[in-house]
Amino acid sequence: MTAATAIAHPNIALVKYWGKQAVAGNVPAMPSLSITLETLKTRTHVAAAAKPRLFLDGQHVEDAKVQALVAALSDAYGLPPLAIDSGSNFPAGAGLASSASGIAALVTAVDAAFGLALSPAERSQWARRGSASAARSMFGGFATLAASADWAGSQLRDGSEWPLEVVVAIAARAPKRVSSTAGMAASQATSPYYDAWLATAEADFAAGCEAVRQRDFAALASVAEHSCLKMHGLMLSSRPPLAYWNGATVSAMASVRELAAKGVPVFFTIDAGPQLKAVCAPGHGTTVAHALRHTWGVMDVYVSGLGPGARAVKANV
Ligand code: DP6
Repeated sequence: MTAATAIAHPNIALVKYWGKQAVAGNVPAMPSLSITLETLKTRTHVAAAAKPRLFLDGQHVEDAKVQALVAALSDAYGLPPLAIDSGSNFPAGAGLASSASGIAALVTAVDAAFGLALSPAERSQWARRGSASAARSMFGGFATLAASADWAGSQLRDGSEWPLEVVVAIAARAPKRVSSTAGMAASQATSPYYDAWLATAEADFAAGCEAVRQRDFAALASVAEHSCLKMHGLMLSSRPPLAYWNGATVSAMASVRELAAKGVPVFFTIDAGPQLKAVCAPGHGTTVAHALRHTWGVMDVYVSGLGPGARAVKANV
C-alpha cells in the first residue's frame, strides 16, 4: 500500500506549553496536559506521487513545518515524494490547534501508507518534531507531553472515564498574525517573566495531572485557568507584546466567570488565538453553549465531548 487516510482531533492544553529547550528535535522546555476533542477533526490523505504537493482545505500551500517533518520522515524511512491532502471541519490557524490535528493525522497516514508499523508513542514523537502540541493529539481523552528519554506524549486517562464537555467560542475567523513557534521564541528571548513561568510549570503540571486522576473539577479549573492566564501574562510581557485576545475573548471570559459564580462547573482556557474554550463538567455543555452563544462578539460556538487519538481510516470514512 502506498496511500492511506488518517483522522486526528485537535487538543486543548489545560496546562500549557510555551517555550522550547535549546536542543534539536523541537523539545518543549516544560510539560503539558491536554484534552483531545471529538467534534472537531482533521482528515489527511497521503499518497506516493511523482512530485511532492500539499493541499490544505482544498488550497495548494507551502508549509515549512510540514515540509521539514516530511523530509525527516523520508530520510528515516526512505519514502517517495508525497501528495498530501488535508482538510478540517474548523478554521485553520486561528488558535484551534489545526496544526496539532493536521500533523498527528499526517504522521498516522504516513505510517499506514508505507507500513511503518510505528507504535502510538513513536508516532507521537515524530509529531512532536513537527509541532509539539501535535504529540498530544496522538492520544484520546487526557494526554500529556512530559520529559522522558524520547519526549513522546502519552495518555493519562481515557475520555470515557471523565467525559468533560468543551464549548469553543469563536471570537474571530482570521488566522493569527504570530505563530506559536515565533511567539514562544519571542517570549523566551524578551519576557522578564519567562524564568518564573518555567520555574512554576512542573508544579502546575503535577497539580493538573492529580486533578485528572482524582476527577476533581474544581482543582482542574483552578490550575488550568492559572496556567492559561500566566501564559497570556508571559505573552503580554514579551517585546513586541503578543496580544492574542480580542473584545469577544474578554466578554466570553466574563460570561464563563458569571456562570461559575452561579455554581455552573465551568472554566475557560485560551491558546495562541482569540477563541475561548469553556471546559464543563459532564452534562453542563448545553447551558454553557447557550450562554456563550448570547455573549457579545461571539460569532459561533462548537460543542464537543472528548475524542479518540489519531487513527488510520478507510478512505471513504
Ligand atoms: C498555546 O505546538 O503550536 O497551544 O511546537 O512550535 O509547533 P510548536 O508550537 P505549538 O504550540 C502550542 C502552544 C499552545 C499551548 C499548548 O498547546 O500547550
